[in-house]
Amino acid sequence: MDTRIIVVTSGKGGVGKTTVTANLSARLATEGYSVVAIDADIGLRNLDVVMGLENRIVFNVVDVIEEACKLQQALVRDRRIENLFLLPAAQTRTKEAVNSKQMKELCDSLRGKYDFVIIDSPAGIESGFRNAAAGADEALVVVTPDVSSVRDADRIIGLLESGEKKSIALVVNRVRPAMIRSGKMLGVSDVSDILAVSILGIIPEDDNVVISTNRGEPLTLGSPSPAARAFENIAGRILGRDIPLPDPGSLDEKGLLAGLKKMFGRQGGRG
Ligand SMILES: Nc1ncnc2c1ncn2[C@@H]1O[C@H](COP(=O)(O)OP(=O)(O)O)[C@@H](O)[C@H]1O
Ligand SMILES: [Mg+2]
Repeated sequence: MDTRIIVVTSGKGGVGKTTVTANLSARLATEGYSVVAIDADIGLRNLDVVMGLENRIVFNVVDVIEEACKLQQALVRDRRIENLFLLPAAQTRTKEAVNSKQMKELCDSLRGKYDFVIIDSPAGIESGFRNAAAGADEALVVVTPDVSSVRDADRIIGLLESGEKKSIALVVNRVRPAMIRSGKMLGVSDVSDILAVSILGIIPEDDNVVISTNRGEPLTLGSPSPAARAFENIAGRILGRDIPLPDPGSLDEKGLLAGLKKMFGRQGGRG
């Protein structure tokens, strides 16, 4: 089995790294792939909460690295989705508890055993980021369409490129088409142009994300929603399926307005 090891990173905090790690991992697992999600945000763990597995943690990634337990003992198996595992972060330790070499060895020890390893990175461009990225072959850079997020993503992409990642792709999160159309938010293609990295997925701003985060229930298990659909498509593209990117301008036009426009045979607005 060829294991794909992907780090989810961004530079900036609060842009959706943990959300993407949890939901992408869950989606790939519901498609039948074996997935280990690693929380590399040592000291600030929250992937366990977003995945709804916080009550079942016994050991963590630092215990594995320090050989206080075996890897298998630390992996928390999801009860709802077969093949989905979490390797939680330590809460009472700092990121200095691990180094890049150890993280790389840990990732390498998972090769051949699981289809995917998805690593949630802490914010920042310091050692926490370097440790999270050390063992990954591929990187997903999560960015929101605002200037500070794009600037931080630019720094991270530079670091990833010098770290010889096989592939780097963008996930543009919290996209609000109405804001983009009114010129109050960067367009999705502007983000991709500025960063010179191709887009793997576009996730709309969607209250269902907050609801799913608070419930600890992946979107893929909930009722259909725009964000759930976005993660389904991102997983599909990772699996090599030819799924065209949505036109960002059409993201919020699935409801009444889209129906009316079709009726009148018009695409855009007036003028
Ligand atoms: N597409 C989205 N729509 C609405 N809320 C979102 C979306 N993506 C993330 N969020 C919310 O933003 C907050 C930060 O997301 P998180 O994944 O924790 O960011 P990070 O891990 O990069 O710090 C969370 O409360 C999450 O529910
Ligand atoms: Mg996070």
